[in-house]
Amino acid sequence: MYNSKISGLGFYVPENIVTNDDLSKIMDTNDEWIQERTGIQQRRHVIRGEDTTTSMGVKAAKIAIERAGITAQDIDFVVFATLSPDYYFPGPGVLVQRDLGMRTVGALDVRNQCSGFVYAISIADQYIKTGMYKNVLVIGSELHSGGLDMTTRGRGVSVIFGDGAGAAVLTREEDTKKGILSTHLHAEGQHAEELALIAPGMGKRWVTDIIAENDPNDESYYPYMNGQFVFKNAVVRFSEVINEGLKANDLQVSDIDMLIPHQANLRISQFIQQKFKLADDKVYNNIQKYGNTTAASIPIALTEAWEQGKIKEGDLVVLAAFGSGFTWGSVIVRW
Ligand SMILES: CC(C)(COP(=O)(O)OP(=O)(O)OC[C@H]1O[C@@H](n2cnc3c(N)ncnc32)[C@H](O)[C@@H]1OP(=O)(O)O)[C@@H](O)C(=O)NCCC(=O)NCCS
Repeated sequence: MYNSKISGLGFYVPENIVTNDDLSKIMDTNDEWIQERTGIQQRRHVIRGEDTTTSMGVKAAKIAIERAGITAQDIDFVVFATLSPDYYFPGPGVLVQRDLGMRTVGALDVRNQCSGFVYAISIADQYIKTGMYKNVLVIGSELHSGGLDMTTRGRGVSVIFGDGAGAAVLTREEDTKKGILSTHLHAEGQHAEELALIAPGMGKRWVTDIIAENDPNDESYYPYMNGQFVFKNAVVRFSEVINEGLKANDLQVSDIDMLIPHQANLRISQFIQQKFKLADDKVYNNIQKYGNTTAASIPIALTEAWEQGKIKEGDLVVLAAFGSGFTWGSVIVRW
């Protein structure tokens, strides 16, 4: 048996900054409401034609691969997490495989929204642990801005989300006390529609219905979120899954050197920090700058924290996520 370690990290966000004041010019919202409820000050939106979910993922991946000290030819498998793929099908995994000029390695797409990166890491880790692959590229990328209701009707959702991508290379580690110690995944499909984009899909609203009805005011084209219900579930599940990961490794909260929570809402992160009584330098947040970038939020935050020297060899790093599905999970890493 082997472990896997994170050998390279990278992120990319589009240059175009959209502030809360910018949003207040196109919908009935304001900086005070957004900051008070979410902590978000600004987010990035792509310039249409300049970036796609795949192209952002590729840019982040190039940095991660270079930092891992390998080339795209050394990657044995790709796992791509997103809820905003370039195409309905095929998924962006194969587009990355093509755009990075890789060998004909497998490419898998993960559909687990805000928990997507944690699920993707778990998959990559299993392939490496069994000895099947040596280097796996894991990407989380989202282009939300092309699919949000940017009118007052959609303000409860659209002010929260931003665009961006993060990537990690997972590499075989012979020392099983190092690298990814364990991953923990959960789902509760009972609440699938509490945070969802229903149309187009082959359940309630077929593509053929949408074309036939041609109704630009149809709300089902846009994401729906029961904000308070999501918030209440998130704080409970985040806590549970962090505790589960610590317990599985005989670790205590006091062993955590860095917690990287999915950047759902600064208030959720602060609630978790207070509950676990973690000092400010043991939790990394950047939602203030980027909003909620869903599958990209953990790899962007992890990369930034690492770039700023906040994660050092030997540190215990905990990744935790919660989101649509509902799905949630954690990753316990000895750096
Ligand atoms: C979304 C969220 C910020 C909303 O905050 P909230 O305190 O629950 O606010 P509510 O939805 O009850 O709305 C309160 C009022 O603000 C209004 N409002 C909603 N969005 C607004 C906006 N962007 N600007 C100004 N007012 C807004 C509502 O219309 C409502 O007005 P009303 O009282 O006149 O009806 C909060 O529920 C949340 O953060 N939930 C978790 C979301 C999350 O983390 N999602 C990602 C999960 S991965």
